[in-house]
Amino acid sequence: MKVLFIGDIVGTSGQKALTQFLPTLKQIYKPQLTIANGENMADGRGLNEKLYKQLLHHGIDVITMGNHTWDNREIFDFIDRASCLIRPINLPKTTPGVGLRYVKVNQTEWAIVNVLGSVFMSPCLDPFDYLPPVIETIRRRTPHILIDFHAEATSEKQALAWLLDGQVSAVLGTHTHVQTRDARILPQGTAMISDVGMTGCLDSVLGFRPQEAIRRFTSKLPARLEQATTDNIVLSAVLLDVDNVTGKTRSIEPIYITKDGMGTPSKRRFE
Ligand SMILES: [Fe+2]
Ligand SMILES: [Fe+2]
Repeated sequence: MKVLFIGDIVGTSGQKALTQFLPTLKQIYKPQLTIANGENMADGRGLNEKLYKQLLHHGIDVITMGNHTWDNREIFDFIDRASCLIRPINLPKTTPGVGLRYVKVNQTEWAIVNVLGSVFMSPCLDPFDYLPPVIETIRRRTPHILIDFHAEATSEKQALAWLLDGQVSAVLGTHTHVQTRDARILPQGTAMISDVGMTGCLDSVLGFRPQEAIRRFTSKLPARLEQATTDNIVLSAVLLDVDNVTGKTRSIEPIYITKDGMGTPSKRRFE
C-alpha cells in the first residue's frame, strides 16, 4: 500500500504548492492514503476551518498538527468536530481535540498519531514514556500505524524511531521545515526520516521572509515573521510502500518537487 505524507504546509505559498504539485504526485504514485501536516497553513500559524476543508477537498485523508496547533484561535471552534484532524497526543487530558485517528483504507485500518517532542519544544508529556503503552493498545487493533513526530532534535526523532522499530509502520519527523537525508527502513520494518521538510516558499527562512528572520538575529529584538510569497515554491513529502498484512514498510522515498521538477535546486545547478 502506498502512503503519501506531506511536510508542514506554510501559508499561501504552501497552499499554492499543494494545488500545483499534489495532482501530479497523485497521478505518478497513486497513494491510497494521503496525510499532511497543517500546523502552519493559516498565514504560517495554525489552521482555520476554511483551510481545513480545503485540505479535505485536495484529497488529504488526515491532517496532523504540532506546536502551532493553537496559534489561530478559530481552531477551538471546530477542532472537536473536525473528524480528519489530529493535534499532538501527549498533551493533558483536558486538551481539545484528539491525537489519534483510525482511517479505513480498503480493507486495512490505519492509525495515525501526532506526537510532540520534548527537546527545545513547548512543554508536553514525555513522548518516550507516554507513547509505548498507546502503541501497544493500538496494535491490538491494527499493525498499520503512522506517527508524525513533531520535534526539533534529530537525535530525539531517531531515538523514538529506534524505540518503536517493528511496532509501527513509520516515524516521520516534522517541525524543522528542512528535509533531512536520513530516510531509511530500520531492521524490524519501521520507516523513519528525521524531517519530511516544508511545503511552501523556497525564497525564505523556513517559509518566512528572510528580512525579518535576519533582523531577529542581527538586532536580538523580537520581529514578527511574515510568510514568504515568491513563486519559487516546493512540496516536500515522503512516499511509503507498506505491506498490507504485516504493516511493515518496504520502502521510503523522499519527495522534493519544485516548478523545475524533482530534486533539490543545488543538485540541478551542479549537474
Ligand atoms: Fe512546529
Ligand atoms: Fe511547522
